[in-house]
Amino acid sequence: MNTTTLSRRGMDAPSSPIRALAAAARKAQDSGKTVHYMNIGQPDIETPRGMIEAYQEYDEKVLAYAPSDGFQDYREALASKYYNRIVQDQPPITAEDIVVTVGGSEALLFAMAAITDPGDELLVCEPYYTNYHGYAHILGIDTSPVTTHAKDDYRINPANIEAAITGKTRGLVLPTPGNPTGLILSHEELCEIAAICDRHGLFFICDEVYREFIYDAPHGTLAPSLLAVPGAHEQAIIIDSVSKRYSACGARIGCLVTRNREVRKAALHFGQARLSPATVDQRAAMAALDTPQEYFTRVVTEYKGRRDTLVSGLKAIGIPVNPPKGAFYLAVPLPVENSDDFAHWLVDEFDVDGETLCVAPLGGFYSTKGLGQNEVRMAYVLEQPIIEKCVKILEAALKAYKPS
Ligand SMILES: Cc1ncc(COP(=O)(O)O)c(C=O)c1O
Repeated sequence: MNTTTLSRRGMDAPSSPIRALAAAARKAQDSGKTVHYMNIGQPDIETPRGMIEAYQEYDEKVLAYAPSDGFQDYREALASKYYNRIVQDQPPITAEDIVVTVGGSEALLFAMAAITDPGDELLVCEPYYTNYHGYAHILGIDTSPVTTHAKDDYRINPANIEAAITGKTRGLVLPTPGNPTGLILSHEELCEIAAICDRHGLFFICDEVYREFIYDAPHGTLAPSLLAVPGAHEQAIIIDSVSKRYSACGARIGCLVTRNREVRKAALHFGQARLSPATVDQRAAMAALDTPQEYFTRVVTEYKGRRDTLVSGLKAIGIPVNPPKGAFYLAVPLPVENSDDFAHWLVDEFDVDGETLCVAPLGGFYSTKGLGQNEVRMAYVLEQPIIEKCVKILEAALKAYKPS
């Protein structure tokens, strides 16, 4: 009998360090423990009412496919109600510049696939959003890391980007605000990095899914966007999503925005192969565009409080961390040698009065071997009293932990 074998791609696919602990945490929960999930960016914030109502009011007779690049009226509304606030003095975004995707995740995959062939390289700044590496694996490309450091607040030195470019480099992919770093690139930094891309003929994939989550600025301030950078129009590919903006991770609607016709054409062809993004969810995402500013003011105030609670709690137990400027993650250095083992032990074997904590080991957020081994990522997506409790659990765990 012939035996089947998986592809190398299938066999070697990296598991997501963000979700890796899910099975163990479920088991711990089934055994009666309460598990506080700080490993994934699943906010507990309410989705805007208008978005929920759009789902409830959906009343078509046939649940049909949508166009492959998304509904025309949704793309028009995205351009006029959302992106044209962001471009500042740069040319407007039109519906034609937008391809609606299945979450920001699919926009990332399409963007990376549109600009690389197997064997090419994409630059990433580590620690990075771990799925950049996951998609690179699927596409048969390499991620070459430029390392950034907590002591510098993860600021990127553009000279290091330039130095990492090789003949195989096709572009770079960066999140701002950053996951897991919270780094926000200033307009000037975006201009500087875009200029490097221009000099070397590289694409700049700018992942802006946390654009609203910026803490040390007046309410309503958005993180600077690559869309507002002059002269970067052909290189710039923006990744976006409703997941975090409207606390609507289950809607699975995102988009790719670019003024580059060829990139859009490739993305559309990929989109035709998967037929269409979800119909009803686009209707809800369209309603979400009318979410009032008070919603964001409330949400950002809440996250800022959570961030401050986590940072001051960790400092009080002797863990040195700086407040992240945006998004809702914190890379936390721990006095352990292997944060993967520690994170598993936390859910498998430890509890304080029946409660424990799930965190994401940070090794998988780096390409450079050995980095992140003594760090975890904590997502501050829980209410402040629970975050305080989580810090207490962590403190007790660090005292009790005896690595085998
Ligand atoms: C930086 C970043 N980009 C993209 C995504 C993709 O999100 P989604 O596919 O839910 O839009 C995430 C999700 O956590 C993220 O953190």
